[in-house]
Amino acid sequence: MTRQAILILDFGSQYTQLIARRVRENKVFSKLIPYNTPAKELASLSPRGLILSGSPLSVVSKKGFYPDKAIFKLGVPILGICYGMQVIAEMLGGRVKHTKEREYGKTELFIDNNRDLFSNLPGNLTCWASHGDYVTKLPPGFQNLAHTPNAPIAAFGNKKLKIFGVQFHPEVTHTDKGTQILGNFLFKICGCLGRWTMQSFIRESIETIKKTVEKDKVVLGLSGGVDSSVAALLIHKAIGRRLRCVFIDNGLLRKDEPEQIKKVFRNTFHLNLGYVDRSKRFLKRLKGITDPEEKRKLIGDEFVKVFEEEAAKLKGVKFLGQGTLYPDVIESISPGGAPSSRIKSHHNVGGLPAHMKLKLIEPLRDLFKDEVRQIARELALPDTVIYRQPFPGPGLAIRIIGEVTPARLNLLREVDRRVIDEIRNANLYEQVWQSFAVLLPIKSVGVMGDERTYENVAALRCVTSFDGMTADWAKLPYEVLEKISHRIINEVKGVNRVVYDISSKPPATIEWE
Ligand code: XMP
Repeated sequence: MTRQAILILDFGSQYTQLIARRVRENKVFSKLIPYNTPAKELASLSPRGLILSGSPLSVVSKKGFYPDKAIFKLGVPILGICYGMQVIAEMLGGRVKHTKEREYGKTELFIDNNRDLFSNLPGNLTCWASHGDYVTKLPPGFQNLAHTPNAPIAAFGNKKLKIFGVQFHPEVTHTDKGTQILGNFLFKICGCLGRWTMQSFIRESIETIKKTVEKDKVVLGLSGGVDSSVAALLIHKAIGRRLRCVFIDNGLLRKDEPEQIKKVFRNTFHLNLGYVDRSKRFLKRLKGITDPEEKRKLIGDEFVKVFEEEAAKLKGVKFLGQGTLYPDVIESISPGGAPSSRIKSHHNVGGLPAHMKLKLIEPLRDLFKDEVRQIARELALPDTVIYRQPFPGPGLAIRIIGEVTPARLNLLREVDRRVIDEIRNANLYEQVWQSFAVLLPIKSVGVMGDERTYENVAALRCVTSFDGMTADWAKLPYEVLEKISHRIINEVKGVNRVVYDISSKPPATIEWE
C-alpha cells in the first residue's frame, strides 16, 4: 500500500496548497479536504494523519471556522499550522488571545524540546510567521515545544494523543528545515513510509484505469499539451488501442503542429490517434467575425460539435478521458465564508459536453502541474511536449486582431515560427511563460530597397509568469529583440514593422483578445 494519505483540512489559507506540495515532496500522498468535513467521512478515507491549515480568519473573533470536534477522537495524528494550532488550542481547553504585536515574516524560532516534531534539528532556526493571535495557555496535557521572541508558545504537542501545533508556517520555503519538520510529523508521528513516487503513481494509475474501464473503450481529445498527452499515455498503457484519441485540427494551430503531434503520438508511442482536419469548417464559421468573445464562443462550440461527431462514430465508447489537474478540482475556502470553487481564468476549449453521458477518466486529477511533468519524463515524452508553453484553445484566432482569414493565418504562422525559433536559440523558451506574435489590423509605411512599402505590423508578446493569472513583460536582451525583428521583416513578406508589447497583467492581459 503506497497511498498512505495525509488529509489537509483547508481553512482558507493562501498556503494550503503549499502544505500539500511539501507533504508530497516527502513522498507521502496528500489531499485537501474542506475544513468542515465530518470526522466519520474523514475516517472512511483511512488517513495516516490530519493537518489543519492556516486561515485568514481568527478564532478570537468568534467568526472562526471550526472542524468537527470528533476529529480529536479518531486516534489519527494531527498537526495544526498557525490558525490550525489555534483551533486545537481553543477546542481542547487552551486559550488564544489577539495582541497588537503581529508576527509577520521571518522570525527566530528557539526549540525547547527537540524530540518528535523537532528531532534532528538545530536548537534555533529561522521560521516564517504570519499572525496576530497567540496561544497564551496550553490545553491540558500539552507541552510547550518552542518559542519565538514574541510568542512564548510557538509550538506545542501532546505526545500521547499525537496532536501537535506550530504557530509558524513550515510549508513556506522561508522556514529553515520546514520540509524536515513536516517530515518528522509524517514519519515519526504518523508512521508514514514515504513510498509515494511518480513510478508508484504510474503503476497504481494504470491498475485503476484497467479496473474501471474493463473491456470498454475510452475517447480522449488530444491537444498536444502536456496534460492531455500524459493522460493519453497512461490510459494507453492500461487499455492499449481501446483508447481512441482524437486530434482536431481547427485550422488555428501553429506551423507544423499537426505533423509534429502525429509524429510523436502515432509513430513513437503508437497511439490509436484519429487526425480530424476540420480547418475549413472552422474558418468558414469565423468569416466576418471580429469580436474576441464571439470568436472564442464559436470556436468552443464548434470544437464540442466536432468532438461529439467523432465520438459518435466510435462504437462502444463509455468513457471520456481528460487531463484535468488537481488545482482545477480543489475545493477551496473563501475567506468570507462558504467553501467555494477556485475560479480559473483559463477557459479550456473542449471541455466536457455534459449531455454526452460518458463517464470520466481523469488520471491526473490528484496531481500538480510539475508532478505531471515528472510523469511525462518517466514516460519519455519529448521535451517539446513536456515544456510546451501554454497555447490557448482558440489558437491563432485570438492573435489575429480583427477578421481571421487563411492569408492572415499563414502570415502569422510564419511570423510566430521565427519568434519561437529565436527565443529557443537564445535559450529563453523555458524561462518565459509565453512568447508569441500578434498580427495587428493596421498597416504602416516602410522603405525596402528604394521602394515604399505599406504593410502589416506584428506585435511581439513575451511574458514571465508563475501561473498565467498575473504576468510581467519579459525583459528580453536587445540583441534577441533585434534578431527577431530583423528575421521577421526580412523573411516574412507582408510585414514591415515589429513592435514589442511592454504591458503587464494586470491591467493588460497576456493575449491581446
Ligand atoms: P489572458 O490573456 O487572460 O491569458 O491573460 C491567461 C492565460 O490563458 C490563456 N488563454 C486561454 N486559454 N482558452 C484557453 O484555453 C482561451 O480562450 C484563452 N484565453 C487566454 C493565455 O494564453 C494565457 O496562458
